[in-house]
Amino acid sequence: MSSHKPASDRITVPKFVAMKRDGKKISMLTAYDHTMAQLLDEAGVDSILVGDSLSMVVQGHDTTLPVTLDEMIYHAKMVARAVHRALVIVDLPFPSFHLGVYSAIESAGRILKETGAQAVKLEGGVEQAEVIAGLVSAGIPVMAHVGLRPQLVMQMGGYKVQRDEEQLLADALAAQNAGAFGMVLECVPRSAAAKISAELTIPTIGIGAGAGCDGQVLVVNDMLGLTGGYVPKFVKAYADLRGQITTAARQYCEEVRGGAFPADEHSFK
Ligand code: KIV
Repeated sequence: MSSHKPASDRITVPKFVAMKRDGKKISMLTAYDHTMAQLLDEAGVDSILVGDSLSMVVQGHDTTLPVTLDEMIYHAKMVARAVHRALVIVDLPFPSFHLGVYSAIESAGRILKETGAQAVKLEGGVEQAEVIAGLVSAGIPVMAHVGLRPQLVMQMGGYKVQRDEEQLLADALAAQNAGAFGMVLECVPRSAAAKISAELTIPTIGIGAGAGCDGQVLVVNDMLGLTGGYVPKFVKAYADLRGQITTAARQYCEEVRGGAFPADEHSFK
C-alpha cells in the first residue's frame, strides 16, 4: 500500500475548480525554489506556479524563451518538495508543446513524473485546443493561459494589453471545452476579464486583468519588492525586500570590515 496519501487539506485540481463554484477567490504566486515555496505554502497561498518567468527572474534573461524543460523540472522539484497544501502547477516552456500532442504529453508527463507537481500550464487557447485535449486524455491536468502570452513576445514585438474581446472569449471557451481545469488571463481589460470569468465554469486567474477574475497571480519577486528595474503597472508590492536585503548586506560588510562581526557569541570557546 502506498504511504503517499494526499494530506486532507491538500488543494487538488477538483478542489481548485470547486473554489469557483463555492465563491472562494483563489490566491496564486510563483515560486522557483524550496525556501520560497515553503514560506508561501505556510502562508496559505492556494496555488504555487513554477512559471517560465524563472527565465527572467532567476536566470536573468530578457524573455521567457530561453528556459529549458530540464531547467523547469530542476526548479519544480525543489518547489514540490517544499509544498504540503498548495496546488503546484508548472509551466510548459517554449516550444515544448508546439511539436504536436505526442511531444506535449512526453514533456508534461516528465513534469508530473519527475517533479511531484500536480498540473501543467501552457500558453494558448483556440490553436492549442488539440494539445490540451490530448494532455487531459492522458490524465494530465492543464491550466491554459490566454490574453498576453509572453512566449509570443517576438511575434508581438513587446508586451501589450490584449483587447480583442471576441478572440479572448474564443480562446477561453476553446481551452475550457478542450478540458482545461482553469486559465490564467494576462493583461486583459478588466471588463473583458469579468465577462469571460462569468461565462466560464472553470476558474480564471488574473494578472493585470482586474478584480472580476476568480483568483489572482503575481510573480513573487515583484510582489515582495525584490525586482530591480521595470515592474509592470498591475503589480502591488507588499514588501520592500530589495531594500531590506541591501541594508542588511551593507551592515554585514561594515561589521566584517570593522571587526564587529563575529562577536564572541558567534564563535566557540
Ligand atoms: O511564468 C509566469 O510566471 C506566469 C505568470 C505570470 C502567470 O505565467
